[in-house]
Amino acid sequence: MRTDTETERSGADEVVGPSAYTEAVARFLPGDADARGALLPLLHALQDAFGYIDDALVPHVAEALNLSRADVHGVVTFYHDFRRRPAGRHVVKLCRAESCQARGGRAIEQAAVERLGVAMGATSADGRVTLEPVYCLGLCAIGPNAMVDGVPVSRIDGAKLDRLAAQVAA
Ligand code: FES
Repeated sequence: MRTDTETERSGADEVVGPSAYTEAVARFLPGDADARGALLPLLHALQDAFGYIDDALVPHVAEALNLSRADVHGVVTFYHDFRRRPAGRHVVKLCRAESCQARGGRAIEQAAVERLGVAMGATSADGRVTLEPVYCLGLCAIGPNAMVDGVPVSRIDGAKLDRLAAQVAA
């Protein structure tokens, strides 16, 4: 039986132990890349597997790649792609890059925060929705844009925000 110090929580509410992290790091470790080249692919694979990069994963990754924990932590915190906490059941990403900002993205973001009831970069207390920034979805001419549960939504306006809020209320 595991003790509290031997376990961590994962995004799916199952208990994940250090041995699971060690196994996952070994499984996803690219075989033919140097440590620096392997780090980003490994972190992406681990996030796909666990839903986020738990702080407890960092020492396992550092050891496997012979990097310092600070190196790995620095990469996880630098890139917006990496989530350090479990996401909500729905994930809404709003584009903060230049073209979408020029098309009213800032006002849309403020309205989204109000309608969804969650701050930018946060997950609602009930675990319903995560709202986070993204920096260009490649749809600049038809912004402001969002990505909702992996599906792009363009020309966001008040009516679309209302539909989006209803969609993620489930
Ligand atoms: S600037 Fe928003 S999609 Fe490119």
